[in-house]
Amino acid sequence: MQAGTIATAPYTDQKPGTSGLRKRVPVFRQAHYLENFVQSIFDTIAVPPNATLVLGGDGRYYNREAIQVILRMAAANGFMRVLVGKGGILSTPAASCIIRKYRTHGGIILSASHNPGGPDGDFGIKYNTANGGPAPEKITEAIFAQSKKIAQYRISETADVELDRTGDYEISGMTVSVIDPVEAYAELMESLFDFTAIRKLLAGGFKIKFDAMHAVTGPYAREIFVHRLGAPVDSVMNAVPLPDFGSGHPDPNLTYAHELVEILYGEDAPEFGAASDGDGDRNMILGKQFFVTPSDSLAILAANAHLVPGYQQGLAGIARSMPTSAAADRVAKTLGIPCYETPTGWKFFGNLMDAGKVTLCGEESFGTGSDHIREKDGLWAVLFWLNILAVRKQSVQGIVFEHWAKYGRNVYSRHDYEDIPADAANGVMKLLHDSFATLKGAQFGHLQVKMCDDFSYTDPVDGSVSTGQGVRIIFTDGSRIIFRLSGTGTGGATLRIYLESFEPDVSKHHLDAQVALATLIRIALQISELHKRTGRDKPTVIT
Ligand code: G1P
Ligand code: ZN
Repeated sequence: MQAGTIATAPYTDQKPGTSGLRKRVPVFRQAHYLENFVQSIFDTIAVPPNATLVLGGDGRYYNREAIQVILRMAAANGFMRVLVGKGGILSTPAASCIIRKYRTHGGIILSASHNPGGPDGDFGIKYNTANGGPAPEKITEAIFAQSKKIAQYRISETADVELDRTGDYEISGMTVSVIDPVEAYAELMESLFDFTAIRKLLAGGFKIKFDAMHAVTGPYAREIFVHRLGAPVDSVMNAVPLPDFGSGHPDPNLTYAHELVEILYGEDAPEFGAASDGDGDRNMILGKQFFVTPSDSLAILAANAHLVPGYQQGLAGIARSMPTSAAADRVAKTLGIPCYETPTGWKFFGNLMDAGKVTLCGEESFGTGSDHIREKDGLWAVLFWLNILAVRKQSVQGIVFEHWAKYGRNVYSRHDYEDIPADAANGVMKLLHDSFATLKGAQFGHLQVKMCDDFSYTDPVDGSVSTGQGVRIIFTDGSRIIFRLSGTGTGGATLRIYLESFEPDVSKHHLDAQVALATLIRIALQISELHKRTGRDKPTVIT
């Protein structure tokens, strides 16, 4: 049992993206690749004496191997204790919850979120700080800098740790505590929501269907919906986590969660449907034959927060990522609380929540959450909706239409062009940048461009500046087109186009978003020359 120091050479591509380092499994399997990155994390955070680390992942392919390596490295790098989820499993929100509950020196989460898994699929790793949230850019940049000059890493030579039985184990003087991955999280949920009211709703025949997409939320959903809330067992589908997510793409949207969508749009549909992603931080909310956009969902949760025990005392503020629709802004205005607009990625919400400036946060990319943890939280959003439904006793659709009637509708859609050549994607972005001067003031039918820029953000808490966060084209009537390159993909480039217009007229609220946004879509394609430059004539995914 000894700690060895192994000589290594840097890789040049270990730059964390929107949410940690994501690469294909074969890339992670290269000699010393994982070890280099983990050592770069440990070197950057300078492990203090008696430190505890949380460790777990979404159970995707390579999760178990990576956990064993990281445990050995944590021991050699002086951690006193590691809390690891049984079977190596922790959903991202559960990891955040456990970091906060046990006040650990942060945690390492193994996940590539909604990206497909398997031997040739994606794997990912990220460090969350002691507040339970993703490391801010300052730290991820320092980790990247360290990875470019790393010369050695430390690892203990020990046997694998038994991950499938809870209990304490010793390796090289470090304690590994294998813990139940669900319990602390389920308790936190029970402390926020009115489980009695939800139980009553479900007992009264209100049918729900939750799709765990063979990803991490299966065991969490079973415990919460079936055991604690009394829903029938078949309320949770695809509940068994699989290393390749059953060959699926564990992204809860209308395209990839089609099995659930078909159920909610079919005959005898349940009243409520929801899905979560690979690591459990995203959510999709459906009513009977009805889809709630994540931007609307954030606004509706905010407007109804007073109905939910954990939020009855009021909201300090709301934050949304820049491409997310301004529906939440309207609610904030009515409530008389601030609404912050941040760059894409949950890491920008952490400072605002730590400073007590915001309670609810959300992104258009199926991410909603609050200051109960420092990650977005899929099951939390589902429970929030169920709590509202239990109190209001209306349909999902009824609640959304009533909301629009009161606040107006921010009609919204996102078009993704996935896996296009990087050159073509960069060419589109450059063209847009080069067009700023001519676009400003330009008229497109009844729409006139008021301003265009590349979004940059100054963090109101620490003053840090993040630039290059997406091209915004804003029209005089408030409509917006945003172009952004994804920072989470592992192959080619993904170009996202976000489209938003405001519709105050109730008689038009039933319109399909693609129809209502047709003019904006046409303008977006025209000014970006997207079809010509990428050879694509339609988006891969529309949400
Ligand atoms: C995507 C989403 C973003 C989210 C991130 C992690 O990042 O757009 O909102 O925070 O995944 O779940 P992107 O690929 O756009 O960089
Ligand atoms: Zn995720």
